[in-house]
Amino acid sequence: MPKDLYDLGEVPPTGHVPATMHAFTLRRERYGQPRDAFAHEIVPVPEIPPGHVLVYTMAAGINYNGVWAAAGHPADVISMREKAGATEDYHIGGSDGAGVVWAVGEGVHGVEVGDHIIVFPGQWDVDAEDIRMGRDPIAARSMQAWGYESNFGSFGQFCLVRDFQCLRKPEHLPWHVVGGFLVSAATAYRQLFGWEPHVVRPGDPVLIWGGAGGLGSSAIQLARQVGGKPVAVVSTEEKARMCRELGAVGTILRTDFDHWGRVPDEEDTQAYAAWTRGVRAFGRRFWEELGERRSPRIVFEHTGADTLPTSLYLCDNAGMVVLCGATSGYRADLDLRFLWMRLKRLQGSHVASPAQCRMVIDLLAGGQLDPCVTRILEFDEIGEAHQMIRDNAQPPGNMSVLVNARAGQTGLDV
Ligand SMILES: NC(=O)c1ccc[n+]([C@@H]2O[C@H](COP(=O)([O-])OP(=O)(O)OC[C@H]3O[C@@H](n4cnc5c(N)ncnc54)[C@H](OP(=O)(O)O)[C@@H]3O)[C@@H](O)[C@H]2O)c1
Repeated sequence: MPKDLYDLGEVPPTGHVPATMHAFTLRRERYGQPRDAFAHEIVPVPEIPPGHVLVYTMAAGINYNGVWAAAGHPADVISMREKAGATEDYHIGGSDGAGVVWAVGEGVHGVEVGDHIIVFPGQWDVDAEDIRMGRDPIAARSMQAWGYESNFGSFGQFCLVRDFQCLRKPEHLPWHVVGGFLVSAATAYRQLFGWEPHVVRPGDPVLIWGGAGGLGSSAIQLARQVGGKPVAVVSTEEKARMCRELGAVGTILRTDFDHWGRVPDEEDTQAYAAWTRGVRAFGRRFWEELGERRSPRIVFEHTGADTLPTSLYLCDNAGMVVLCGATSGYRADLDLRFLWMRLKRLQGSHVASPAQCRMVIDLLAGGQLDPCVTRILEFDEIGEAHQMIRDNAQPPGNMSVLVNARAGQTGLDV
């Protein structure tokens, strides 16, 4: 007998969409620290608009989007959507996820009920003029980070995606792996190989901030695979060991330095000299770890205000600093002289294309990329997991949440 609500892990009869579901939600009145902002609620299963697909979520990934959404800052995602006409006064986050296609809306192409899929973490209006004129959809006006700017992400028992977001899941891989690695790995891939001519080449020194994090652990492996020489920055010896195991040729403890953040005014000669000493000492450490006096041709950035001045200073002449985030703050000092006098490039990068995601999934399926899912969490730990990220107390690598799956499960048990 079909029910209106199923327990997590309990599989509804094929084709039956229940009225309600379990979800971890954010509400405006709870915005703040993640552990207080996230709450387990029962909410309606979303309607399926044309071109959309309802997915029975098996596993979800934890990343920074949930921290920003929980804070309501820099964007209040609920108010933003309400202004655009949405009626729900809550947000179901989760930008990484995998599951089983449960129902499809009108006009859906290329996906069928029962398909096992990994969710591509971005969505856009395929009919929009800029996309029809050939713009990269990631740069399109309608582009939204799924489960952040859009609602009904992977922290719901069912999630809502567009048909083109459904990427085939390699059968042999467990749900908790495929649901928890793609945002990190694909974003890292695009940063390192998406911005010609600044792609990693054999022998290229690469500086990787946050080497043991979700992005960094992928970046080390991807750079090494093509013969690059990644040097990773971390804050503990344990993380340094992990980076070397993943293929870093060297590691730097950022706690050995203190020149982070704003660059002092040059008029303040003492403070500016101290900053210059700090950044030069960091550069010498980079050479020592690399084993030669060469600067990084690519600097892999996402750490923001604390590190950007060092990144730009260290980057080789005609090299690139490529960034996809700003964990320590998004207002950073930029000494423009380095850009034009040394022909350096500062490149923004955001997620990846569906094709790049597929390449990363293929690397994973072929055993060439370690997803570094080091912690598997229960559904009710979603708030605490984001708190760990917020406090930089998370385990190295990526964290994955079991929604309807068990750890290690690869299919759907009915
Ligand atoms: N635009 C996109 O598509 C996209 C996609 C994924 C992620 N991101 C962004 O990228 C950032 C990192 O994501 P992630 O998933 O890799 O996070 P993560 O797993 O938490 O790793 C971040 C790492 O950054 C390092 N870190 C933290 N504060 C730092 C500071 N002040 N200075 C230097 N290093 C610092 C930490 O390493 P140590 O403490 O060991 O140094 C930490 O391991 C986030 O801001 C996220 O929003 C953007």
